[in-house]
Amino acid sequence: MNKKYNKVLILLCSFGIFQAVAQSPVSLSKKYTIDQQVEELLGRMTLDEKIGQMIQSNSPGGKLSEELSTAIKKGQIGSILNEVRPEIIREMQRLAIEESRLGIPLLIGRDVIHGFNTVFPINIGLAATFNPELVKEGAAIAAREATNVGLNWNFAPMVDVSRDPRWGRMAESFGEDPHLVSAMGVAMLKGFQGDDLAKEYSMAACAKHFAAYGAAEGGRDYNTVSLSEADLWNIYFPPFHALKQGGVATFMTGFNELNGIPASGNSYLFREVLKGKWKFEGFVVSDWNSIGEMLEHGNAANEASAALQAVRAGVDMEMAGLIYRNNLHQLIRSEQIKVADIDEAVRRILKVKYQLGLFSIDLNRHFEEISEELRVKHLAVSKRSALQSFVLLKNDNMALPLASSIKKLAVIGPMSDDRYEQLGTWIFDGDTTMTITPLHALKNMMGEDRILYEKGLETTRSMDTSNFEKALNIAKEADAVVLVLGEESILTGEAHSRAKLNFPGAQSDLIKKVSESGKSVILIIMTSRPLIIEEDMKYCDAVLYAWHPGSMGGQALAEVLIGLESPSGKLPVTFPRTEGQIPIYYSHKNTGRPYRKDSFTPMEEIPVRSFQTSLGNTSHYIDYGAAPLFPFGYGLSYTKFEYSDLKLSRKEMSPTDSLEVSFVLSNKGTYEAEEVVQLYIRDLVGSITRPVKELKAFRRLRLKVGEQISVTFTIGSDLLGFFDKDGNYLVESGEFQIWVGGDSEGELNQIFSVK
Ligand code: GLC
Repeated sequence: MNKKYNKVLILLCSFGIFQAVAQSPVSLSKKYTIDQQVEELLGRMTLDEKIGQMIQSNSPGGKLSEELSTAIKKGQIGSILNEVRPEIIREMQRLAIEESRLGIPLLIGRDVIHGFNTVFPINIGLAATFNPELVKEGAAIAAREATNVGLNWNFAPMVDVSRDPRWGRMAESFGEDPHLVSAMGVAMLKGFQGDDLAKEYSMAACAKHFAAYGAAEGGRDYNTVSLSEADLWNIYFPPFHALKQGGVATFMTGFNELNGIPASGNSYLFREVLKGKWKFEGFVVSDWNSIGEMLEHGNAANEASAALQAVRAGVDMEMAGLIYRNNLHQLIRSEQIKVADIDEAVRRILKVKYQLGLFSIDLNRHFEEISEELRVKHLAVSKRSALQSFVLLKNDNMALPLASSIKKLAVIGPMSDDRYEQLGTWIFDGDTTMTITPLHALKNMMGEDRILYEKGLETTRSMDTSNFEKALNIAKEADAVVLVLGEESILTGEAHSRAKLNFPGAQSDLIKKVSESGKSVILIIMTSRPLIIEEDMKYCDAVLYAWHPGSMGGQALAEVLIGLESPSGKLPVTFPRTEGQIPIYYSHKNTGRPYRKDSFTPMEEIPVRSFQTSLGNTSHYIDYGAAPLFPFGYGLSYTKFEYSDLKLSRKEMSPTDSLEVSFVLSNKGTYEAEEVVQLYIRDLVGSITRPVKELKAFRRLRLKVGEQISVTFTIGSDLLGFFDKDGNYLVESGEFQIWVGGDSEGELNQIFSVK
């Protein structure tokens, strides 16, 4: 049916509904579509009530203020954020539903980034699991706990592709690769929203921060972003498109400007791409006062102009700012915006409220604590997530798992026994009483009498080395040493970018000191970004990257250390050898003078008075080359996996064909373990240059000792193409290279072509 007819139909229905409502307060939800209910309600709203829906206020905590109560009763607020007390949330909803003129319920939002009370590994750690199903399970638990107190909107998942470890918010990202970020984002989305937004434990999710917030210049948070359209479409947009296709209810703007226009006033992003090309039907919320920040950006001369630009750009709701509240009425009066613009925003907001079933919430439903039985189940999933997130970077002389013959184990370091710091950033509602630390778990599992403990340093930033001798003494007394170091929570996350990525404080000195004991040193690193650790690793026999592992991180670590489970995580980000290599990521372009490992002469070995071009004019640093310390997808195991027999079902394919890629994976070691097999593709020639590799598929598999399995991936043209600068998806003919392996270096590869 054509649009005009549709509009007439909706108007007639609305009129019909209006008559029905006018005659008897029939419950519309049983007889009419959500769109019809939205139209009917919209038709009864005053301009003031409509603008009220576009305003989200921060709950200041404390007693529910008269001012906030009054604003809710007047219908001047559509959403609240940062209120988690069930009784206060219920009172706010009661005021909105029972004491406002139209009874429109509130959206209650919160950042539930990696768990609510039960804390899961920080998102970059969840990404290292390469296990979307497990991440979905964890997100559903987070939603179960969050909706239990009355929350119905989650400002997550964050799906900013993040390639700069200086950026503190890499912590809450799923890393550098669009395919992995998309898979993890969609998994979290499904966990939060479930299969029906109206279900009791579902909550609206939010794709953030649109767009390219992670590409901030210098990895400095909130900094400028300048990107080509091709990079936007091929790197930064795909995870957001995946969430839109997955049915995400809301989007959030970024703080950053993109190519000269702040995201919160960027109509290319929200009108042209999101609501135009992608036909997104949910609503867009600004980030915290990001509309007002357009004045600081120098893109709006005053608040009225900022409000005008944001409405025109398609930002439907303002988070924690006063720009919409103070300026929209005037903009309507001066006809700079039309009521129709307001209606479009309010329509989208009301639609999500209906989809969530908020118009029929039970105000008498009483908050009940999560039962002990359920809490145990939640923690078990948190532990499994931590177990699968750990990445084994080094394991010389099989230092791990710890030998059962060990009589005394020294546990040293400021992150060994810290219930709060181990949880990482964005844990507003994390219950630290539930945290199991490594020290606690090792004492439990090995017996208190076998564990010696020294903190060594008061915090990860401490420069006070006065306890180093004590640490060295217990190292000498023990048979092996577990060092637990890293970054305390506040050194990661929003607004916490770092220019140098070494261990903070005197932690590197502590590693050296403890290594003087001559004992086997196992280094465990708890943080939410790659650190520069090449030098530190020389003093350790084994290195395990644990990220900020969440509530059960310590228990999971103890189980890995004593060998109940092999590490199986893979790096979701590339590890640089030094900050000067940043940005460094695996899916880089080849350049016209690609770096060759064999062409690199370390600076200190360059002969004096070498001839100018003698070093090989290739793209590298003469002091650090161009290779990372560890590549994307890297991670060791206690066992040895072998890849063999790579076969392609065809050597040539048309864009409509599919290609079967099969190979054999064998467990040739002595441990049952899990491997994340990865498939990468390169389009060898493109009308715009293509990366040297792109992850296109992965799968986590468990193999017993000696087990061999055949693995098959099916590749279609949806994995072979790329976007041009206008967002058109192109699959070009020519040769492609395909790799399979346990990391982005790839083990086996073959060539095929698209005709
Ligand atoms: C923050 C973050 C955003 C978060 C919002 C509400 O500044 O940028 O990700 O959801 O404000 O806390």
